[in-house]
Amino acid sequence: MAVYLLKWSFLLMTITMMVHTFVVFRGTIWLDRNEIIDTFPKLRCEKLREKFLSTEESKTPLNMKSFTDDLRVLMRCPHKTNITQRERYRVELRACCNATGSLFLTRENTFKGQRIKYETNRKISKLVDNTVFNMLPPTTPWKNGSRFSRCAVVGNSGILRNSSCGAEINSADIVFRLNLAPINNTRDVGEKTNLITANPSQIRIGYPDLEKRPKPLLDRVSAYSDAPLLLPAFAYTFCTDISFKVHKVLRMNRPHQKVVFFNPEYLLQLFQYWQRRGLQEIRLTSGLMLASVAIELCDEVQLYGFWPFETDLYGRPVTHHYYDDIGPSRRMHAMPKEFVQLLRMHSQGSIRLNLDRCQ
Ligand SMILES: *[C@@H]1O[C@H](CO)[C@@H](O)[C@H](O)[C@H]1NC(C)=O
Ligand SMILES: *[C@@H]1O[C@H](CO)[C@@H](O)[C@H](O)[C@H]1NC(C)=O
Ligand SMILES: *[C@@H]1O[C@H](CO)[C@@H](O)[C@H](O)[C@H]1NC(C)=O
Ligand SMILES: *[C@@H]1O[C@H](CO)[C@@H](O)[C@H](O)[C@H]1NC(C)=O
Ligand SMILES: *[C@@H]1O[C@H](CO)[C@@H](O)[C@H](O)[C@H]1NC(C)=O
Repeated sequence: MAVYLLKWSFLLMTITMMVHTFVVFRGTIWLDRNEIIDTFPKLRCEKLREKFLSTEESKTPLNMKSFTDDLRVLMRCPHKTNITQRERYRVELRACCNATGSLFLTRENTFKGQRIKYETNRKISKLVDNTVFNMLPPTTPWKNGSRFSRCAVVGNSGILRNSSCGAEINSADIVFRLNLAPINNTRDVGEKTNLITANPSQIRIGYPDLEKRPKPLLDRVSAYSDAPLLLPAFAYTFCTDISFKVHKVLRMNRPHQKVVFFNPEYLLQLFQYWQRRGLQEIRLTSGLMLASVAIELCDEVQLYGFWPFETDLYGRPVTHHYYDDIGPSRRMHAMPKEFVQLLRMHSQGSIRLNLDRCQ
């Protein structure tokens, strides 16, 4: 019996060894190891890009589990830039909106006696008198058409927590930040800032009685050293007074840090541009606004902290912002729709979304 068993196990061992030898042999001679490792993910990356390219905004929210499973893989795929496609966006945005010349109101693109029409109500306008004219900067900072090679737009989502993306963000030529996002964790969010937006309702709620008690706001904006503060002063009528107050307070206390106003014509054209591309929402987020500016001005656009969902790529809960958990206005914005649009652009190779930890 024992001999019988021994014979069988010997035979089994021989067969195993032969199969093993064959596999190793095949592996070394006919199939290059790198090819085995690379070919299949490459195919998978291509498939995923195609899949995300054909996703429609109306299909959100998607099945979160399979969506994030795919995104996790996509984030590890080597990023492919499609220069043709990228330049197409730049040319289109320049033609429709012209951030270079028109992103904010300046003494070059605005004249005394002009009436500035409000972005959301074209029947109402504000006269540019001496006071208003004197608030405007002489020109836009990137007027001479110089292109930047890499720009980062830092969204405020909680996925930035523990991301370690700070160094990568700081290494960009230009960094845009949104809605007075605090910079209290430089390891994750960096600190470099070249432009920061503020939302008038955020000022109204967060800094009441601004003229008598300017210090809290001054402290907050000092985090961006001398980066200009950009406000939509002519989006809605309520925005104007608040924006002018912010301008006054900074001019008196931090004259080296300018306050500039979005050109309502720029925002209106941009809104219509995205609407023509199928994006249906009441108002663009400032994230998409600044991403559009970056596409026009920069060769490579990297987005960080853009994530409108409640769980991250690994199914863990994620806060609305990296610094608090106060949600956005669901009535005004359609963030998941915007996200699908940005994801499509990432898959095309026009921009780069960063949703996972940075290396
Ligand atoms: C790049 O984009 C253009 C325009 O959408 C497309 O025709 C072309 O096939 C793309 N190239 C690659 C390599 O994907
Ligand atoms: C953008 O605006 C600037 C300044 O007003 C102007 O010189 C330039 O020709 C404009 N570009 C386009 C494409 O309209
Ligand atoms: C204009 O371009 C020059 C380089 O040609 C650059 O050094 C300068 O910073 C640019 N100015 C502005 C305001 O962007
Ligand atoms: C970040 O990492 C720390 C320790 O590495 C952990 O305690 C904390 O829960 C993490 N926070 C998030 C939001 O993942
Ligand atoms: C960052 O600041 C916000 C308030 O401004 C605070 O709630 C949050 O805990 C801070 N985060 C860190 C990591 O210090």
